[in-house]
Amino acid sequence: MHTQVAIIGAGPAGLLLSHLLHLQGIESVVIESRSRDDIEATIRAGVLEQGTMDILNESGVGERMRTIGALHHGVELSFDGKRHRIDLTELTGKAITVYPQHEVIKDLVAARLAAQGQILFEVSGVALHGVETDKPSVTFIHRGEEARIDADFIIGADGYHGVSRASMPGQEQRRDFQRIYPFGWFGILVESSPSSDELIYAQHDRGFALVSTRSPTVQRLYFQCDPKDHVDNWSDDRIWSELHARLENNDGWKVNEGRIFQKGIIAMRSFVSTPMQAGRLFLAGDSAHIVPPTGAKGMNLAVGDVKLLARGFEQFYKQGRDALLAGYTDDALRRIWRAEYFSWTMTRLLHTFADATPFEREMQRAELANIVSSRAMATALAENYVGDF
Ligand code: DHB
Repeated sequence: MHTQVAIIGAGPAGLLLSHLLHLQGIESVVIESRSRDDIEATIRAGVLEQGTMDILNESGVGERMRTIGALHHGVELSFDGKRHRIDLTELTGKAITVYPQHEVIKDLVAARLAAQGQILFEVSGVALHGVETDKPSVTFIHRGEEARIDADFIIGADGYHGVSRASMPGQEQRRDFQRIYPFGWFGILVESSPSSDELIYAQHDRGFALVSTRSPTVQRLYFQCDPKDHVDNWSDDRIWSELHARLENNDGWKVNEGRIFQKGIIAMRSFVSTPMQAGRLFLAGDSAHIVPPTGAKGMNLAVGDVKLLARGFEQFYKQGRDALLAGYTDDALRRIWRAEYFSWTMTRLLHTFADATPFEREMQRAELANIVSSRAMATALAENYVGDF
């Protein structure tokens, strides 16, 4: 098989890049280790920044997002028994949409297949070759047979555990930056109506909690937990009493209970690996960087990488210039480090650190108090939250 751009990984990064390249008349093939059913059903993030909404809309895959996604103009911070609204739209002129990542994936897979795009699912044994030449290739097993794609470029959009990052030449020069947090998020899906019109980020001595949504009948809730804990230790009753305790407030509002039909624990890390390119191989999304989920940036960062790559390939194929591709790592990292900073800030601001001193705990509350009483600080949070790439 021959194509212009071989893309490893059918997550938001790989699929969106394939779609944007197609709109510019550039060919690509996407390979993915999981099945289509699996990628279309796995519950991941849920928040799309304005810039992500814009690119889905402009590229013609925003219709379901506009119909079933929930447009939010603000978020709430809860602490000391009170809720405080951050009016994103008033402060920044922008909004966010709560629309699950697997729905974005469904939309992109449908668009690629409708345009006769090639996505090969359930491949295994992926190996990269010749990335330092201008004829790189990818080999893998598909439907029991050995297969090979010769391409001009390879994109590693295969996530944190994927083979691409490890296959980059020049591992001696690779620099990884990492922070692993001493807590995780316990996430549940619940059958109930929404408890709140907007997301609630709650700081509490017992630990962080987050009220999000998936649809008018399905809600998504999270609470800080020990990353080594096990879902079997958490009965439904224990989960609800923990959520009520952490979300308690003085105005009588309570989170809606309902049937819990999914439970899972998410580990939290900050991670950046640089460079994001070597020869004809470029990394995009989680293969190069991870943020803790608190700022809701993960998928949006992947989309940001892809925007840069799509422009770079357009310049390469239409004008025969590689300036944008050559500057990819630097251009991408500028935005990534800012998002890493914001995600770390939100994580630090809202979680309970077991080893924090009483003084540090007071500083955390003072910072929250500053954010909700200073328009300047609230604006900084809002600008980062809605994103500006
Ligand atoms: C969701 C996830 C996040 O990380 C966040 O900050 C807000 C919402 C969600 O899954 O709905």
